[in-house]
Amino acid sequence: MFAAYAARIDPEDPLSGLELGERPEPEARPGWSTVTVKAASLNHHDLWSLRGVGLPAERLPMILGCDAAGVDEDGNEVVLHSVVGQSGHGVGPKEPRSILTERYQGTFATQVSVPTWNLIPKPAELSFEEAACLPTSWLTAYRMLFTNSGTKPGDTVLVQGAGGGVATAAIVLGKAAGLRVWVTSRDEAKRARALELGADGAYESGARLPERVDAVLETVGAATWSHSIKSLRPGGTLVISGATSGDRPKAAELTRIFFLELKVVGSTMGSKEELTGLLNLCATAGVRPVIDSTYPLAEAKDAFAKMSKGDLFGKLILKP
Ligand SMILES: NC(=O)c1ccc[n+]([C@@H]2O[C@H](COP(=O)([O-])OP(=O)(O)OC[C@H]3O[C@@H](n4cnc5c(N)ncnc54)[C@H](OP(=O)(O)O)[C@@H]3O)[C@@H](O)[C@H]2O)c1
Repeated sequence: MFAAYAARIDPEDPLSGLELGERPEPEARPGWSTVTVKAASLNHHDLWSLRGVGLPAERLPMILGCDAAGVDEDGNEVVLHSVVGQSGHGVGPKEPRSILTERYQGTFATQVSVPTWNLIPKPAELSFEEAACLPTSWLTAYRMLFTNSGTKPGDTVLVQGAGGGVATAAIVLGKAAGLRVWVTSRDEAKRARALELGADGAYESGARLPERVDAVLETVGAATWSHSIKSLRPGGTLVISGATSGDRPKAAELTRIFFLELKVVGSTMGSKEELTGLLNLCATAGVRPVIDSTYPLAEAKDAFAKMSKGDLFGKLILKP
């Protein structure tokens, strides 16, 4: 079957390890289902994989892609929960949690195989493209906001780096939940688009905010860490799920963290229940993922290049 896969690891030039071509179809396995992929979406995780983060060279070649929506062997329209091993379903009880593409082949292919437990019915209200946006960055934003940020309707949340997949999800979900959402971006056009999307305020990266916020959602990492800590009210919560610009901030702001009793909470992906909640929210509240652009799978290299440049607003879709 045709697939986009990591053939080599190169931390300096990750795109050079991306190959397009034929890979074996998934083999039948007890407790697992094969899904015909209708749409998949790209995440920064796929770039990290090509750099060797979470994907050691001995597991290559590895089909990339954590997210997909498609049709199972019985003709049901499904969305994949891409975390395997958390529940013991389909794998041994002691197998540690992994995300598709770390241990098992991913979704940038005609077919993908996952434990049957990991399939969730796709709501009819969502297209395959929309549903394919949800399992990684949108699920991560959902958990950051609703499980880990401690915010309630009426609170103010700051989202760093307005254009990313997690960030755009956080804007839309935060507004749907009655939060006041402020964003930062280095780019004026992205700030304008964030306001169109419903953000209540959009500021240059590092700018002083009108007042301190109840929570910050951080995925940019080193470049915005200090600003995130300084933007919190006493007792506020910083939720971090990514570090696109690096994980060594110049200033850790330790004094501020203990003196103002700030909470720093790590967050990764989400549970199957949370993904089901997210799908229900989209179906019932009219919330829809923000799609930057859609590419045929054969043009995956263009989509990867766009993500690598940070030249996007919302999700990039790949269609086999
Ligand atoms: N833990 C998890 O489960 C999980 C799940 C999903 C994603 N992640 C991680 O979260 C991060 C975000 O992923 P993503 O796919 O949403 O989007 P992404 O493409 O990594 O994010 C792009 C945004 O990052 C900002 N950015 C990048 N470099 C920057 C810099 N040097 N200074 C300031 N801002 C910078 C840009 O904001 P502006 O251009 O607007 O300033 C850009 O819009 C990634 O590192 C990813 O690995 C983790």
